[in-house]
Amino acid sequence: MATDRRPIVDLSEAEARHRLPLKWGVPEGVLAAWVAEMDYAVDPVVLESVQRMVADGITGYPVMEDPQLAESYAAWSARHVGWAPEPEAVQPVVDVTAGVRLAIDVLSGPGGVVFPTPGYNAQHGLAGVTGRAEHLLEVPPSADRAEIDLDALDRLLAGGAQTLLLTQPHNPWGRAFTRAELEGVRDVVVRHGARVVSDEIHAPLVLPGAEHVPYLSVEGTHDHAVAVVAASKAFNTAGLRCAQLVVPDPAARQRLADQPMSRNDSWSPLGATAARAAYDHGDGWLASLIERLDEQRTLLGELLATHLPEVRMRPVEATYLAWLDASAYGHDDAAAVALERGRVMVSDGASYAPGSTGQVRLNFATSPERLTEIVERLAKAWV
Ligand SMILES: Cc1ncc(COP(=O)(O)O)c(C=O)c1O
Repeated sequence: MATDRRPIVDLSEAEARHRLPLKWGVPEGVLAAWVAEMDYAVDPVVLESVQRMVADGITGYPVMEDPQLAESYAAWSARHVGWAPEPEAVQPVVDVTAGVRLAIDVLSGPGGVVFPTPGYNAQHGLAGVTGRAEHLLEVPPSADRAEIDLDALDRLLAGGAQTLLLTQPHNPWGRAFTRAELEGVRDVVVRHGARVVSDEIHAPLVLPGAEHVPYLSVEGTHDHAVAVVAASKAFNTAGLRCAQLVVPDPAARQRLADQPMSRNDSWSPLGATAARAAYDHGDGWLASLIERLDEQRTLLGELLATHLPEVRMRPVEATYLAWLDASAYGHDDAAAVALERGRVMVSDGASYAPGSTGQVRLNFATSPERLTEIVERLAKAWV
């Protein structure tokens, strides 16, 4: 395994606008701090793996099963989080959201899906797409530390919900749940015979001071849970389209294998190649990334203390997405005010926590200089 350190290379604004068209498809003069992509160049080792493939003209369908990708993920997981599924349990899917949908569609009972909020905005409504009710398990947006309310989970499962959509580490809570917390979740879920789909896309992005505990590493979870994982968030390759579904229960694997091919949008071989390169050879780059994000997290805290002392930032244990409670400044739609007056695009908290006001999610995976300008502009807009 290559563990040589490779530096994080900041993208200029022009490069970011060119390479990250969704995040940076904002009007000229606006700074983008919303979509969960990083203003950093892709690890050259990952990029080269894809460039080689295209140069060789490899543009055909991907293989139906990808044992090499499964081995690469399992080895990465063993090295980084001290637990690994057996490679047979790992199945490619096109992206994490599709993997979550597929798992619920095929493996869950018809009862509702519990979705802790604030929750990843693109997954609001996912339960409905699978024909199930969505039950929000609300954490007050302004709470200093976000925790899963086990009594509320218990009530929702007692009331007929049959699946918990867990996000571990959590976007936008910034939490990496502890083993004890996950054991608490397991106990409630098992009591009701419910299922868990654990979205672990942010697992590589746990920052110093916290650790990632895969839900499937908790004893007694394999018969009721799957995880959906990917290298794409940590390695900035979301557009290459490949995630992995981890299904430790052989009976559940068989049910998935029995589905018609039309149920799963096939992944891209470019994404599978990038994921393998990241898992096999990305450790040195990832170590630099974690160092940088740790520095950015500290810088953000300092900038807020200086320019926006009334903003409360939840401690960020993982991800590069900070949840900011700016309600003290009195703007209901703080994101709209940031855009209009500050020319900064942050994510509106209400899209994660319906009905909330004064909350935003800020992406700090950028250069120190750009982050400084972002916070200075937010201060001009809000104060
Ligand atoms: C928790 C979570 N799940 C899933 C996704 C999206 O993943 P994908 O593009 O693979 O569906 C994101 C993107 O930021 C996310 O934060």
